[in-house]
Amino acid sequence: MRTLITLPHVHRRQIPAKFRKDDNRFSENFVEFFLDKYTRRGDIVLDIFVGLGTTFFVAEEMGRIPYGIEYLKDRYLYIKEHVKNKNNIIHGDALKLLEYKLPKCDFCLSSPAYMNKDDTENPYTACKTEGNYEQYLEDTRKIYSNVKEIMKPESYIVIEVSNLKRNGEVTTLAWDIGKIVSEVFHFEGEIIINWENDDSEKENGIYGYGYDHSYSLVFRNK
Ligand SMILES: C[S@@+](CC[C@H](N)C(=O)[O-])C[C@H]1O[C@@H](n2cnc3c(N)ncnc32)[C@H](O)[C@@H]1O
Repeated sequence: MRTLITLPHVHRRQIPAKFRKDDNRFSENFVEFFLDKYTRRGDIVLDIFVGLGTTFFVAEEMGRIPYGIEYLKDRYLYIKEHVKNKNNIIHGDALKLLEYKLPKCDFCLSSPAYMNKDDTENPYTACKTEGNYEQYLEDTRKIYSNVKEIMKPESYIVIEVSNLKRNGEVTTLAWDIGKIVSEVFHFEGEIIINWENDDSEKENGIYGYGYDHSYSLVFRNK
């Protein structure tokens, strides 16, 4: 397994202006890399945090069948309008995954909503309720335990995540998520994505959160 890859941090797809200030999408080339590596045409691909739908759009372009969940209604409606597999996107909560009766999946690619260790709002309710970092990690463990129930044997699960720098403090989010999800799936190792763009002096890092790179944590359903 290559453990370091360099990708341009670019988005091919234009999104409506109202979503641009919270644009935390995957780059399409990132999704292509992992779908090429871990799936074949006709495979079922799950993204439990659909966001603005990059996994859905790229999976459809590559002849895979996407399924997924998005908590925010405006994002859900935007994706539903633009994808072919309209009934495969659910407006819901990843913590309730097993209620949605999804089919067994061949591959899961997702990036959770992020949380800093001193935040007091729960990112899994779009910050509408109170939360703390310990509860967030516990919810993350529950979410991926549910994912395990619907993954085919020997399938791969990739979680894209970064550590977070803020005000001189680092939240070791990537490592903490790596540790708890390792209790659910077999950890195969990390692939570091070295993100490149034309603006290498971007104040908060090319990826964001103070970093130029992110981690793709690769797990297997053994
Ligand atoms: C980091 S973004 C994912 C971006 C996505 N990979 C893309 O390319 O557009 C995380 C998404 O998870 C959604 N989310 C947060 N809590 C959720 C939950 N409990 N269930 C499902 N989705 C949730 C957020 O609204 C957000 O759109």
